[in-house]
Amino acid sequence: MRTKVAIIGAGPAGLMLGQLLSLMNISNVIVESRSRSYVEGRSRAGQITPATVRILTESGVGSRIHTEGMVHSALQFHYDGATRELDFQALTGNTVTIYGQQEIIKDLIAARLKTDHPLLFDAVDVQIHDTNGSAPSVSFRHDNNHQTLECDFIVGCDGFHGICRPHIADDLTFFSHTYPFTWLAVLAEMSPISRDVIFSSHDTGLALFTMRSPSVSRIYLQCSPDADLNEWPASRIWDLLQSRIEGRPEKVNGGAIIEKSIVQLRSFVAEKMQKGRLFLAGDAAHIVPPSAAKGLNLAVSDANILAQAFKRFYASDKEDLLLSYSDIALKQVWKDVQFSHWMAMLLHRFDDNSGFHRRLQMSELDRILGPGPAARNFAELWVGDPPYVASI
Ligand code: APR
Repeated sequence: MRTKVAIIGAGPAGLMLGQLLSLMNISNVIVESRSRSYVEGRSRAGQITPATVRILTESGVGSRIHTEGMVHSALQFHYDGATRELDFQALTGNTVTIYGQQEIIKDLIAARLKTDHPLLFDAVDVQIHDTNGSAPSVSFRHDNNHQTLECDFIVGCDGFHGICRPHIADDLTFFSHTYPFTWLAVLAEMSPISRDVIFSSHDTGLALFTMRSPSVSRIYLQCSPDADLNEWPASRIWDLLQSRIEGRPEKVNGGAIIEKSIVQLRSFVAEKMQKGRLFLAGDAAHIVPPSAAKGLNLAVSDANILAQAFKRFYASDKEDLLLSYSDIALKQVWKDVQFSHWMAMLLHRFDDNSGFHRRLQMSELDRILGPGPAARNFAELWVGDPPYVASI
């Protein structure tokens, strides 16, 4: 088998890159180690920025997000017993869309299957070779056959635990920060308790209330670093959520829990995001804490930047954009890492016996939600930048 671009991983980064390259008539093969049903069933992020909606729309996979996505114009911040609203649409003219990551995955897979470009699920023993030379390749087993995929370039879209970043680890520098708490992430059959997303910064910890559809809610609760899922029966989850929104009128009527997991919060950046003929995109290169909902949008941003660079290379033989992919992508990555980290520091409970950090948090929240320029600055960071290259 031979292709121009071999893509490892069929998450948002890999599928988006594949879709963009296919539209540009650049041959590509996606190799994924999991099954289609597993990839389509993984529920994760769900807040989609205008830039991501635009890239999806321009690449022909935006019809469902426009009909089924929930358009949001404001956030609610609940702290010190009261709620204050931040209307980011009024401040920026932009909205965000709530639409589950797995729905984007389904849309991208459906579009992919209409093309002639291969998408291979259930690949076993995936390995990459000669990424520093002129003849890179990918080897794996598929349907019990050993395959070698020769290519011009390999893109590692294989997530944080993939094989591509370790392949060039000696040439990279890593920056990381682990937060001293986890999130209990819950997906439940429950109508949203509020029209808007609610961030509650309570003395006992953060509660984040969001939604996936008119009948499914997504809730995140700050927990200790060693939280054990078995110690979180439904009643404890609903009681904690209720207590962390005390002062609000809602009575939490917890529905059936569809899924729950413990999420470790971390910031991580690998520099550079390329070496030789291997490029990294999405979680393979960076992780942001979910506090500002940027991870999925960053994965799509990387894919877009890289696709434009491949387009230029194959159209005019110019390598300049490919060589500067990492520098361009990292500007957005660090901006989002900074904002996500700042949000994490603003909203969580930190063990601080003197209460000093808590007072600083309150003062900062007052400033953001007050009449000055901080609200607008926050709103612009929340809705995100326009895509690096608008047109595909
Ligand atoms: N070979 C092939 N595929 C692999 C391998 C491998 N050795 N290792 C991992 N994969 C696949 C995984 O099964 C997964 O489907 O790579 C894919 C990586 O997808 P994601 O983890 O979703 O990463 P990415 O596409 O970068 O998307 C980032 O996902 O984790 C969320 O919040 C994050 O929203 C962000 C987004």
